[in-house]
Amino acid sequence: MTETRHGDDDATAAPAESPGALRFEQLFVRGFRNLEPLDLSPSPRFNVFSGDNGQGKSNLLEVLAYLSTLRSFRAAPADELVRRDGQDAVLAGKVEGPPAPHTLKVRLHRGRARELALDDKRPRTLAGWLAVCPVVVFHPGELALAQGGPETRRKLLDGILEEIDPSMGPVMLEYGKALRSRNRLLRSERPDLRAVAAFDPILARSGALLVAARRALVDELAPRAQATFEWLFGDSIPVDIRYAPRIEGGQDALLEALARSLDKDRARGFTAEGPHADDLALQVHERGARHHASQGQQRSLVLALKLAELEVLARRIGRVPPFLLDDVSSELDRTRAGRFFRRLSDLGGQVFLTTTMPELVLLEGEGRADFRVEEGRVSRVKTGSSRDM
Ligand SMILES: Nc1ncnc2c1ncn2[C@@H]1O[C@H](COP(=O)(O)OP(=O)(O)O)[C@@H](O)[C@H]1O
Ligand SMILES: [Mg+2]
Repeated sequence: MTETRHGDDDATAAPAESPGALRFEQLFVRGFRNLEPLDLSPSPRFNVFSGDNGQGKSNLLEVLAYLSTLRSFRAAPADELVRRDGQDAVLAGKVEGPPAPHTLKVRLHRGRARELALDDKRPRTLAGWLAVCPVVVFHPGELALAQGGPETRRKLLDGILEEIDPSMGPVMLEYGKALRSRNRLLRSERPDLRAVAAFDPILARSGALLVAARRALVDELAPRAQATFEWLFGDSIPVDIRYAPRIEGGQDALLEALARSLDKDRARGFTAEGPHADDLALQVHERGARHHASQGQQRSLVLALKLAELEVLARRIGRVPPFLLDDVSSELDRTRAGRFFRRLSDLGGQVFLTTTMPELVLLEGEGRADFRVEEGRVSRVKTGSSRDM
């Protein structure tokens, strides 16, 4: 295999710290899950957290993800995030990068609403907060992208769209609201079909916008993910990633499909046609990855998608977001792990990764900081090489 560098049209690919990178420069944690009080100055490039199972590695990534997204990537409610014997938790991060540095601070309380401070003030909008430091997260649950149903994949696309196109949030809201209303009517005992059909123009209009945006996104995402997958596996395993809409065509086609399926929708009690039923089709050797790809191929496909997400976000928002990788080395064999880390290195952003096997994290040299996580305590490992740990 020729080891070409991928993403060569990509202005963000840089061997060193990218000038446009967003990075956590300081991190402050008190009372979060099992983590001991923590004041951390991470490396602007690679931060490797190693330790046995159950020590707090994922909890640490969860802190970073929470500061970025105000959600737990493990879908945990705030009450679970606060240390079992405590009443509240404080998470704070200083984010460096264009256009300006910011501080994010969250106070989580058991049994009551959280408090947020952006640059020491209450944020005016949620969107303002979310735009400060988007992150890309990979964790083992993410394998559902290859192994699960279409919903996870639609969520991936819509999540990225929300980050790169501020006009899409309202479109998705409008579509979702109209869909729920239409379905509610369909479920009623004697639905007024005129009232049901009254939602069709709204669904067709916002649905067509959503489909067009997802398609354009997949056009950017797919070639990058395919290139990374090839880089991991060689080109002997053809992968195909494409948008698979239920209804081909735009607004008119959607409107027509909704009208056509009205009787059937009534019988099943929900709206069958539209972008809420679309998929991001993943194929390996021309067959669906969900049932036909090996585990290793599925993992690589998901990692490739996540790297593509990082590249697309970097391009569109003009800043490379931090990449949080939970337990990544258990996902890949040695050869592929080596290639994966090379690829990661080229992207030039800040990376936080956790592993039980630091010897598999083949990131050499400059910019790597190693940390050991033990019973919630995070300590810096002074040696440059993980093998000494
Ligand atoms: N609210 C909490 N309070 C105290 N400990 C917690 C809380 N939530 C989770 N834990 C502990 O955190 C540990 C798991 O940490 P985790 O980061 O998932 O481990 P790993 O290092 O394997 O990624 C477990 O020991 C669990 O009991
Ligand atoms: Mg973990």
